[in-house]
Amino acid sequence: MSWLDRVFCEDALDGLARIPDGQIDLLIADPPYGLGKDYGNDSDKLDTEAYLAWTEQWITAAIPKLKTNGSLYIFLTWRYSPEIFVMLKRRMTMLNEIIWDRRVPSMGGSTRKYSSVHDTIGFFARAKDYYFDLDAIRIPYDAETKKARSRSIFVGAKWLEMGYNPKDVWSVSRLHREHKERADHPTQKPLEIVERMIKASCPPGGVVLDPFMGSGTTAVAARRCGRQFVGFELNPAYCALIEQRVADLDSTSTQTSNEQVTG
Ligand SMILES: C[S@@+](CC[C@H](N)C(=O)[O-])C[C@H]1O[C@@H](n2cnc3c(N)ncnc32)[C@H](O)[C@@H]1O
Repeated sequence: MSWLDRVFCEDALDGLARIPDGQIDLLIADPPYGLGKDYGNDSDKLDTEAYLAWTEQWITAAIPKLKTNGSLYIFLTWRYSPEIFVMLKRRMTMLNEIIWDRRVPSMGGSTRKYSSVHDTIGFFARAKDYYFDLDAIRIPYDAETKKARSRSIFVGAKWLEMGYNPKDVWSVSRLHREHKERADHPTQKPLEIVERMIKASCPPGGVVLDPFMGSGTTAVAARRCGRQFVGFELNPAYCALIEQRVADLDSTSTQTSNEQVTG
């Protein structure tokens, strides 16, 4: 299909209209949060009423693109997650509210309320038989825990060897300026988070849709995980960045496989 493995530099609403219904395994949406961030456009500067009306519009356009066993993750903050979760709950089943603890260091912060250091991620499915591969995202037990379970009744215990299932609080550092993964985008998400979503909720070879690609984290994560992607981004500078990130990844993997062949 001509729209696969591509990020189109256009408004998500225009792009979504061209994606046939029922083709997408996983939707990862990281929309403007309605907080006034500068993405080189006015997309994050809508007032509350306009922001929620626009959100309802793209959600209505995006959900039919999912397969019946497809699912959706949406990054939000506490500010609008209550309203947007209600919108989504009218159309899908809510499975989790995941708290992304951004590991913000203690350096002052709000003085008349508590400092906000997390993003709220909603996880929703279209139907009961949604795809979910728990084994792909298990977290290995550390050596200490394994040692503590060294009594004979635990030896060879499948769960101990397989690791545990991630909980709904994900503690992953935000990307600092110096971080090697960091690209020139104000709200770039860590690959670790997006790759966990993809491994759990999109079958190998399946298709991930991200209507608001930003720096292209979903495209890079999908490719690294052996999945296909499609998405949209308004800002041409970010579109160029996405192309560069995907090309860099492809050249690294070509280099690695050449080294393997010649090595
Ligand atoms: C929160 S950021 C996404 C960040 C991304 N997840 C990453 O890791 O880099 C939201 C992005 O949506 C883009 N955007 C805003 N409105 C849009 C629209 N109507 N269609 C397509 N992209 C849009 C913005 O330019 C911004 O780059």
